[in-house]
Amino acid sequence: MQEKTQGRGVWSTKAGFILAAAGSAIGLGNIWRFPYVTGQNGGAAFVLIYILCVICIGLPVMIAELSIGRRSQLNPVGAFRKLAPGSPWVAVGMIGVATGIGILSYYSVVAGWTVGYFFKTVAGDFSRFITSDTSGQIFNSFVRNPTAAIGFLFLFLVLTAAVVMGGVAKGIERWSRILMPALFILLILLTIRSVTLPNAGEGLSFYLKPDFSKITAGTIGKALGQALFSLSLGMGAMITYGSYIARKENIPVAAGYVCLFDTLIAIIAGLMTFPALFAMGLRPDASGPGLVFVLLPTIFAKMPGGFIFGAGFFLLLTLAALTSTISLLEVAVSYMVDEWKWKRLRAVVLMSGLAFIIGIPSALSQGASQWLSSLPLVHLSFLDLANVLLGNYSLTVGAFLIAIFVAYKWGIKSTRQEIEAEGNVFHFGRIWSFLIRFICPVAILIIFIYIIITGDFF
Ligand code: PFF
Repeated sequence: MQEKTQGRGVWSTKAGFILAAAGSAIGLGNIWRFPYVTGQNGGAAFVLIYILCVICIGLPVMIAELSIGRRSQLNPVGAFRKLAPGSPWVAVGMIGVATGIGILSYYSVVAGWTVGYFFKTVAGDFSRFITSDTSGQIFNSFVRNPTAAIGFLFLFLVLTAAVVMGGVAKGIERWSRILMPALFILLILLTIRSVTLPNAGEGLSFYLKPDFSKITAGTIGKALGQALFSLSLGMGAMITYGSYIARKENIPVAAGYVCLFDTLIAIIAGLMTFPALFAMGLRPDASGPGLVFVLLPTIFAKMPGGFIFGAGFFLLLTLAALTSTISLLEVAVSYMVDEWKWKRLRAVVLMSGLAFIIGIPSALSQGASQWLSSLPLVHLSFLDLANVLLGNYSLTVGAFLIAIFVAYKWGIKSTRQEIEAEGNVFHFGRIWSFLIRFICPVAILIIFIYIIITGDFF
């Protein structure tokens, strides 16, 4: 944060901004959520639809969000108020703020598991002879323990709050610079181990050979939801981060890099997961949110120096999760600071405290409480339900409204003016305007209608 415009921090370099936005995007969504959602939804065909969603909906919406942020120099609520004064559009920002706290609550539960797994690895809880069965038992008894689940949730939120307290741009840029490449290298090493295990071929074909008969309305909705979740879109995180970009930066180029890095990491996480999963005799659709936590220790056990790889991996994953939760919390905090004139400290403490309280039922929903582990009617755990409602549907509605706002309220012309400020070139401007005006809203609408007609909600 070397420069200041209108009292707001600005990322110090273009690479700094790309790293920070990539830090928000790359997190548990890529390494924890993408593999199990892909496993539950049929593998390769899902991956193809996912990639299509990233290109046709994710990228255009990211460009839209960043432009709204940079033009308004405000949090999501203030941004809509400034660009469409006196209109109900501020509601989109408010839904975003609420969604952010909701996602933060259960996301931090899973991030807490990551912290716990780091300590477990260091403590030597995973032996060289671990099997998928024993690993599953270790996972179940860990997440079933209410003290551990709530304690690690608390610890993780304290970490997030501590970073957000200092202001976003300061810490994240520096951290992301080291963190992302290191995570990438470790992922590649684990992938090499995974694809060279006996029987890896079966997993590879599940992941790479599409079987379109497995695709349903719900699957398409989940691919879109996963794309938005993974790219941190639909709730204003990228509006907030966009408000810290300098006007000389080229928004579409930055957005392109962020989408590319994020998708690459998710695809590699899948390559790491499925060969090992089949090699260990697990079923891709049966594992749910525990998937990578059960699987990873079995891969480490089969690597020389697996202890080091294991500890390093969980540490990096914790930090990657942290760069994402920072952006989730920052949305609400920037709103309180800008609009309610709260002190940053007060906003951070109250908002992370709120996320902690809402996070408790998620923390207890993996076995500690029978009722929360399988809710009546939906037969999902509280965490799963929050993950689908907030992490899929709320973001999808948000992305739909943001596309409509940019295309028909704020307008393509004003958006392009912002993007092309200070002589920046918008290379695929026409394609973008076609996607944001027609493809994004229509595709999302069709997917929703299709889901409602078939009743394929969860
Ligand atoms: N994109 C993050 C991940 O993939 O882990 C999660 C996330 C962060 C979602 C910020 C939404 C958001 F606004």
